[in-house]
Amino acid sequence: MSNQASATRSWWRDAVIYQVYIRSFADGNGDGVGDVAGLRSRLPYLAALGVDALWLNPWYASPQVDAGYDVSDYRQLDPLFGTLEEAEALIAEAHEHGLRVILDIVPNHTSDQHPWFQEALAAEPDSAARSRYHFRPGRGVDGAEPPSDWPSIFGGPAWTRTVDADGKPGDWYLHLFAPEQPDLNWSNAEVHKEFEDILRFWLDLGADGFRIDVAQGLTKDPAFPDLAGRNAGGMLDLATADHPYFDRDETLAVYEEWRRVLDAYDGDRVFVAEAWVADASRIARYLAPARLHTAFNFGLLSCPWEADALRSEIDATLEVLAAAGAPATWVLSNHDVIRHATRYGRERTSLGAAKRSYGMPVDRAVGGRRARAAVQLINALPGGTYLYQGEELGLFEVEDLAPEVWQDPNRRYADHVGPVRDGCRVPLPWSGGGASFGFSPREAAAPWLPQPAGWGDFSVAAQEQDPQSTLSHYRALLQIRKEWLDRGLGDGTPLEWIEAPPEVLAFRRGEVVCYANLSGMPVELPSGYRVLISSEPVVGRRLPADVTVWLVAE
Ligand code: GLC
Repeated sequence: MSNQASATRSWWRDAVIYQVYIRSFADGNGDGVGDVAGLRSRLPYLAALGVDALWLNPWYASPQVDAGYDVSDYRQLDPLFGTLEEAEALIAEAHEHGLRVILDIVPNHTSDQHPWFQEALAAEPDSAARSRYHFRPGRGVDGAEPPSDWPSIFGGPAWTRTVDADGKPGDWYLHLFAPEQPDLNWSNAEVHKEFEDILRFWLDLGADGFRIDVAQGLTKDPAFPDLAGRNAGGMLDLATADHPYFDRDETLAVYEEWRRVLDAYDGDRVFVAEAWVADASRIARYLAPARLHTAFNFGLLSCPWEADALRSEIDATLEVLAAAGAPATWVLSNHDVIRHATRYGRERTSLGAAKRSYGMPVDRAVGGRRARAAVQLINALPGGTYLYQGEELGLFEVEDLAPEVWQDPNRRYADHVGPVRDGCRVPLPWSGGGASFGFSPREAAAPWLPQPAGWGDFSVAAQEQDPQSTLSHYRALLQIRKEWLDRGLGDGTPLEWIEAPPEVLAFRRGEVVCYANLSGMPVELPSGYRVLISSEPVVGRRLPADVTVWLVAE
């Protein structure tokens, strides 16, 4: 591998990782859905942006009930995205561009069309085929009540009843997500072996690591106790300690097995956990030396745009991860949440508030400024960062998609206006005009989700020539971050808070000093420094509201 890996520091400790939501990135074959061919054609764009690695959302064979998180064959590509040969070529070409490739592994559940589940449905109750999943008799008269009161994350019960060969109602099976996503039984040795084989399959093809979907899931309390009132809401509310299906101690043992598989390969490969757990201290358990390397830090993503809240979240994260010896990974957006330019463009800016104010007016000027300031802030923090495709274009959430075009199976919020998760998944605009703003080739089918009018104003082509654009800011920022990695930025150098006016986050990282002004008014910067980069122009020594600046001594 080329540039990033130094002999002494693991690349993933301070990498900038670009999340490719493949179905919305670039469409190469003209069917209106992004694919590997489209992604290959845009690798030069990603290399020029200055990111270190790509994380690709699931591209495996799938009925696409949950956009590929329902896998029917883990060793094939979905024809929607391309072929295995193309996948291999993509990995090789990414490496030639100096980009590593992280795949998304989905171990908590399969698709209901997976051969194992089809076999289980056709098999007898208590058979070996059924023991790869969680089949249970129901409760109540004739077993008509589900085995426990567990809710599906996507709404409704987490159990669906099967029909026996004689046509009579049979056992129930568990699905924490959609009924088409049956949960695997991680007490079954065959499941362990199968996933180790799947990891090796992709590692052999050159994958640099895996993002682990629902990493806090996997093992379940074999007694299937009722939650009895603890079933408040989505993943965040459920992730308390001592829970019957999330964040259980037994799950950690799985990652010790996986770590041994990965460590048998060369090339400094990496695991990143998608683990929604109660707080930062619970995350550290996943990052013990023999387990996973990194985990997304969703604390900042859920935080309001307020200095005190951000500072406490940053401190808590760094303290816990330092104890675990793991680097932080800062995340503002992904394919499951409302884009941060929209969250920050409203008066109340936390993720929870954003859900409640879905569809309400957004001040795009403010949201865009804060989004740039936030990304410059996280890129100055110790550790690595994730960047969700389109945020480098300053994209906003598309909140007015008509219900007829919604694709997301998560309808939990749909009855009170939104959000379904489609609004952050709208295909990217590459050029100003044409039927799909350059997402698909000419004469192609319509994009799988409609793009809003004016989408072309955000396009790569529109921003590329403009030095003040969000895209230009990202490029310059990532370039400068790279140049200063050895003099304070990235992982390693401690963060020291420095004295600053109220509602201003100010800290030093080695030679670099960062100020983020959340106070709502301009503040004075210290003298004796020059500006390395700022998220909006800084005139003289006055730092405008909602701007982040990096300074170095003159
Ligand atoms: C993760 C994914 C999400 C998916 C869910 C079920 O949270 O990020 O998109 O729906 O897992 O696999």
